[in-house]
Amino acid sequence: MADTIRILVTLAEHADPRLVEQALEGDPSLEVIGYADYFDDWHEFLEQPADLVIVACSADDTSATHMVDRAVKHRPDRPVVVMTESSPNGFLRQAFEAGADDVITLPQPPSEVAFTLQKVIARRKGLSMPGRASAPLIAVLGPKGGTGKTLIATNLAVALAQRDANVVLVDLDLQFGDIGLALGLSPERTMYDLMKAGPPFDHEKLDRHLIRHSSGVKVLIAPTRPDQASAVSIEFLRDIYASLRTMCDAVIVDTPPGFTPEVIATIDVSTEICMVGMLDSLSLKNTKLGLETLDLMGYDGDHVALVLNRADSRVGITPDDVSTIISRSPDVAVPSDREIPRSINEGTPIVAARPSSGAAKAFRALADRYAKKPASKPAPPPTSPSGVRSLIGRRR
Ligand SMILES: Nc1ncnc2c1ncn2[C@@H]1O[C@H](COP(=O)(O)OP(=O)(O)O)[C@@H](O)[C@H]1O
Ligand SMILES: [Mg+2]
Repeated sequence: MADTIRILVTLAEHADPRLVEQALEGDPSLEVIGYADYFDDWHEFLEQPADLVIVACSADDTSATHMVDRAVKHRPDRPVVVMTESSPNGFLRQAFEAGADDVITLPQPPSEVAFTLQKVIARRKGLSMPGRASAPLIAVLGPKGGTGKTLIATNLAVALAQRDANVVLVDLDLQFGDIGLALGLSPERTMYDLMKAGPPFDHEKLDRHLIRHSSGVKVLIAPTRPDQASAVSIEFLRDIYASLRTMCDAVIVDTPPGFTPEVIATIDVSTEICMVGMLDSLSLKNTKLGLETLDLMGYDGDHVALVLNRADSRVGITPDDVSTIISRSPDVAVPSDREIPRSINEGTPIVAARPSSGAAKAFRALADRYAKKPASKPAPPPTSPSGVRSLIGRRR
């Protein structure tokens, strides 16, 4: 039997104590050692030796995020879970940003609540870093179609999964997403289904909408029809990113060509960028433009990796030319390999299908970059809701 979880419950201003009691009383693994409300002496209350703090609140309760923040700061090593009757748009993101480990929507039977709380505690035990775990979000960008973004996103995801990382891969190519194809997954559930299911986008709901690849990578598949793509909103993306980042070790986002509003919103919350270019002068010119755009958005160059795909193509451009055109040298060079189209057709990325190939080695070198990074580097500061203002001259 699982260990007993000792719980402190703090009730925000308009929380319904009956609903909370119903959710926590009746399961032998849950022991509530104290309730406090907004006006009690919090310091003393939070000093008690509990395994977990619950912040109970009603919808659009502004005091809730403040309470989460205080509970997290009081003891960063102790998980904090929000319980709410409903969560209006954006509430979940605020809760996660304040440091919540998970959000539970009431009513729920105590056995399910117990299961969720056990998972939260287990997840914390599996992490070496105290405080809220916030996984890196790696955006794979490229100014043109066909440069190898999807190839690199899928292989990077699998290379990290081969090191036992829990990876979520998001297909943000909303119109023509092909990650499902590249990994041989059928689109049983897609990002559109998740959006239709509606908030709150808690871990349980997200998990139900992710499709598992044999490598262990979990995929949020792009909508299957273009009309569904237009339904995906920026607000929705921000909510799911915030939630995904607290449930895995790395979130990788494959993007469509160019700086669409969705891509800009993703860059705004990403901690790492992987810019993909190819060895022809048009692609390099666009890559340079892309790098300059990131600079204008205030993106720190240390967090931008430059990947040169098909780096061995004999097209009359030398590595020196590349460095001259884009004013920096590539961090990783991926060779052309005839096995790559074959691996895509078979749904097994080359890093798994041909681990000894030069391309697989390049993807592992790219994975090294992220495997060594600390788990919770802060994201760049958020910009305006559309993210578009970030393009005009903000520098950090
Ligand atoms: N290094 C490579 N070697 C061989 N073929 C490649 C390589 N990179 C890309 N390709 C081919 O180009 C196609 C387009 O790549 P893809 O990753 O889908 O580009 P993007 O996502 O940028 O549009 C792939 O399906 C693959 O067949
Ligand atoms: Mg693609």
